[in-house]
Amino acid sequence: MHSPALPHVPRLHAYTPGLQPSGPGWTKLNTNECPYPPSPAVAAAIRREVGEDGASLRLYPNPRSSPLRAAVAALHGLREENVCIGNGSDDILNLLVRCYCGGAAPAGFMLPSYSLYPVLVGIQDGRSTVIEFGRDLRLPLPAIAGSGAAIFFLTSPNAPTGVTFGNAEIEQLLQSFTGLLVVDEAYAPFAREHAVPLLARHPRLVVVRTLSKAYALAGIRVGYALADPAVIDLLDRVRDSYNVSRLSQAAALAALGDPDYYRAVIARVCATRDRAIADCTARGWFTYPSGSNFIFTEPSDARGGSGPAVAKSAYDFLCARKVLVRHFPSHALTAPFLRISVGTDDEMLVLQNTLEAWLKHA
Ligand SMILES: Cc1ncc(COP(=O)(O)O)c(C=O)c1O
Repeated sequence: MHSPALPHVPRLHAYTPGLQPSGPGWTKLNTNECPYPPSPAVAAAIRREVGEDGASLRLYPNPRSSPLRAAVAALHGLREENVCIGNGSDDILNLLVRCYCGGAAPAGFMLPSYSLYPVLVGIQDGRSTVIEFGRDLRLPLPAIAGSGAAIFFLTSPNAPTGVTFGNAEIEQLLQSFTGLLVVDEAYAPFAREHAVPLLARHPRLVVVRTLSKAYALAGIRVGYALADPAVIDLLDRVRDSYNVSRLSQAAALAALGDPDYYRAVIARVCATRDRAIADCTARGWFTYPSGSNFIFTEPSDARGGSGPAVAKSAYDFLCARKVLVRHFPSHALTAPFLRISVGTDDEMLVLQNTLEAWLKHA
């Protein structure tokens, strides 16, 4: 049958999100959500926004999310002109691809990194330039500089490895790479260093953040770009005019208004993460240092064997006992590893006990 769609569209592969299981009893450590609820101010702000009868919902939201732009700008010591708010940071990444990527303007990214980038490039019918990490996860600066990419997505801390790239390296990259460098900092609140201070002297740098992880608001869909006003102006030309709902804007503003609550949440997640890394390392499992709210560890079985089949065995054993983590079998570097989101201390105990049971069984 003749398809009226553009020829590239029926060939697209949609992004594969992590499983969202229904039903009780799951220990869900697979999508890097926050294990703790958002600030109590968030639910109060949503209730206030809805009001008694929901009448405010008749009205469109603030089209530019202006109060939220101002709050984000204040948080980072920037100006409102440096901020664009998105319906999740995925929305921002999509806008960046729409503005900067095409057939003659490739988008570059590292492999492994966030697997949404190639999906967005495919939708745009654009071209990708992919650069592979080695096991040491060093950033190959000359390869990126010579990639010819018009826009390059660098995930830092990286997903799914958790490794953070320092500002000295990012700045070196900005000196040699001539395109737009997007540092996707979804996990930066859990890291020691972040690239925001570099914005003041690098107009070709974009930093992308989300409220889905550290702010425990994955369900509300708010993310943002920090960049030179000329870049923000382009994103504003392309985005949906009402891309962030009234409830999302109210929730995000309330979250940003409660920094003490979130400092405590982040400290707790980082402490649990560091204990989980220590537990895996004590077992003799190679585990990358993490600046994120997940760990990336290479399980070895009771005989000391590791590799893709061992990781799959651990994954299947956990899954059968309703402990959900992530295994990425399609890349040689990731296949021997499991990515485990940091849960509550109780959830991590379930994880560790189930892994001990696997070791006895394997
Ligand atoms: C590296 C990275 N960037 C962006 C996102 C998307 O976040 P959001 O929920 O804001 O769309 C994720 C989500 O997992 C991610 O891992």
